Amino acid sequence: MNKIINKLKNSIWIKYIGIFYQYARWRFPALLAITTVTGMLNVIGITMLLPIINLAFNQNPDNKVSEYILTALDDIGITATIGSLLIILVVIYSIKGFAVMAQIYFSGHIITTVKCDIRKKITNLLNLMTYRYYADQSSGTFTNVVNQEVNRFSSSMRAFCRLIISIIHALLYIPAALIINPTITLIFFLIGAISFIFLRKVSNNTAKLSINITKLNNKIFRLLIQTIQSFSYLKATSSFLNVSNMLRSEINDLAKKELKIIFNIALLESLKEPIAVIALVAFIYYQVVIVDGNVANIMILSLILYRLLILFLTIPGDHQKFNRTVGGVLSVEKTIDELSSNKEIEGAKNEADILKEIKFENVYFKYDEKVILSDISINIKPFETIGIVGDSGAGKTTLFYLLTGLLKPSSGRIMLGNIDYSSLKLSEMRRFIGYVTQEPFMFDDTIANNVSLWEANNSDHLHDSTIISAIKAAQCEGFVNDMPSGLNTILGEKGIKISGGQRQRIAIARELFKDPQLLIFDEATSALDSGTENYIKQEIAKIKGKKTMLIIAHRLSTIMDCDRVYILSNGSISETGTTRELYDNKESIFFDMCQKQGITI
Ligand SMILES: Nc1ncnc2c1ncn2[C@@H]1O[C@H](COP(=O)(O)OP(=O)(O)O)[C@@H](O)[C@H]1O
Ligand SMILES: [Mg+2]
Repeated sequence: MNKIINKLKNSIWIKYIGIFYQYARWRFPALLAITTVTGMLNVIGITMLLPIINLAFNQNPDNKVSEYILTALDDIGITATIGSLLIILVVIYSIKGFAVMAQIYFSGHIITTVKCDIRKKITNLLNLMTYRYYADQSSGTFTNVVNQEVNRFSSSMRAFCRLIISIIHALLYIPAALIINPTITLIFFLIGAISFIFLRKVSNNTAKLSINITKLNNKIFRLLIQTIQSFSYLKATSSFLNVSNMLRSEINDLAKKELKIIFNIALLESLKEPIAVIALVAFIYYQVVIVDGNVANIMILSLILYRLLILFLTIPGDHQKFNRTVGGVLSVEKTIDELSSNKEIEGAKNEADILKEIKFENVYFKYDEKVILSDISINIKPFETIGIVGDSGAGKTTLFYLLTGLLKPSSGRIMLGNIDYSSLKLSEMRRFIGYVTQEPFMFDDTIANNVSLWEANNSDHLHDSTIISAIKAAQCEGFVNDMPSGLNTILGEKGIKISGGQRQRIAIARELFKDPQLLIFDEATSALDSGTENYIKQEIAKIKGKKTMLIIAHRLSTIMDCDRVYILSNGSISETGTTRELYDNKESIFFDMCQKQGITI
């Protein structure tokens, strides 16, 4: 007994019904109700034919079903004549038409809304996940879940809805068939069971094939992405053929496997009717020739049994479809669970601005056991421009992550005014932060949308003029005007249609549009030629004193105008002061760096 209970508990079905209910909610019982109604109307519609034929041929109703129907009609005061019965038949089938429409619409409705809800839920959770969790994931995982796996989830729901409908409808036909002729019905059951077992074999084979297809699909997908990413290399060196030959053989293999599945599906589909018809013919022959049974009973029972058998034989196909796609449900669930347990924990204090001193107090930071930053104490006062200088790998970007609260100190604390970051509502605080990095991200969209992040779409000309002034201020006007559609030029994936320096200036325009209170530049000029670097330095000089700025760099030229500079070496602050003070100390690391980089002040 315990074994059975355990088996039930672990059963994918029980789990699935739980998940299905969790997403579909009230729609699930509603679907069951509608399906029961259509099923009952099916049965009543067919069995109504019995008394009609009896009356038409002046036969005595030789079955319980006719008797039930006639008594029921009598009870509600309707006299059974051919006319009244035919009218009732029309009414029943009209109602059934609506019910079937409701059933189809409703199951479609469940699938669409659930798919939409899940996508929204995951997108929302993506926004809430911690940076630490994000850093451990590959971007492909999430895109795959949101697209492919959610689609598989909804396909499994579709198969599940169809299974429910088939099972409920079959269950409702059974009593009617049993009442008309129990022996024959049981024989049909036997035929059904044997065919069912055979058809299941075919569908299990399909399930195995489909697992292989998923693997092959993934392989081709990965190969394809890599080929496209290395396009310029492959093309320029005529190496495309090697890769495309390999791709071609995988694609052929995939097609072969898909054809096998199509054959199986065709087999399943084509066997249903012959099996049902052979059983039916045997039944009719036996009833008419050997037993000489009642014609009306034979006709109606044939109809019912035929439908029952077809429903029964549809189940393996849908079950196979369900099995094939149920993996999507599990991986969507897993992703949602993981994302939910890796949500960023925020404090409740919501500050109206961040024009307060930001202080790092003896901050340490470790990745696993590796110490990245140790004993960092930094003050950033409102409207100051602070420079942070350090070699590559010194921990500068990690410092930025701590400053924006994306990473939490392993010990020590970071304060905004007199509030600890841990009690701040960080998502609100970040609204006041702007960020320009070495590799600014670009959306494959217009320049205007890249600057405003679609805000301009929502409203009016005010935004348009703000975009134009941001573009002018970030020295983008010249090249934007030269583009074919100006501000409405599409930049291409990763901003491929403009140069690195132009992307950098668009990124600055984006921050000028946002107008944050704290603006952070992280190696913003390190990949630029000196001409473009000068543009950006001029830009920074214009903002200086109007916003709080943090300029992170390994090249000194970028930070020479800062109010104060921190030298970060091996994860700790080794020197701090104005550039003048540091330069005047001929023993300082800063002076040494200036010498090496050919800078004198
Ligand atoms: N997600 C991570 N997991 C483990 N170590 C990391 C991770 N990100 C960065 N690091 C390590 O932290 C150190 C500092 O990195 P970073 O702050 O990016 O340096 P910088 O910006 O100064 O070049 C490097 O040694 C780097 O290997
Ligand atoms: Mg860095």
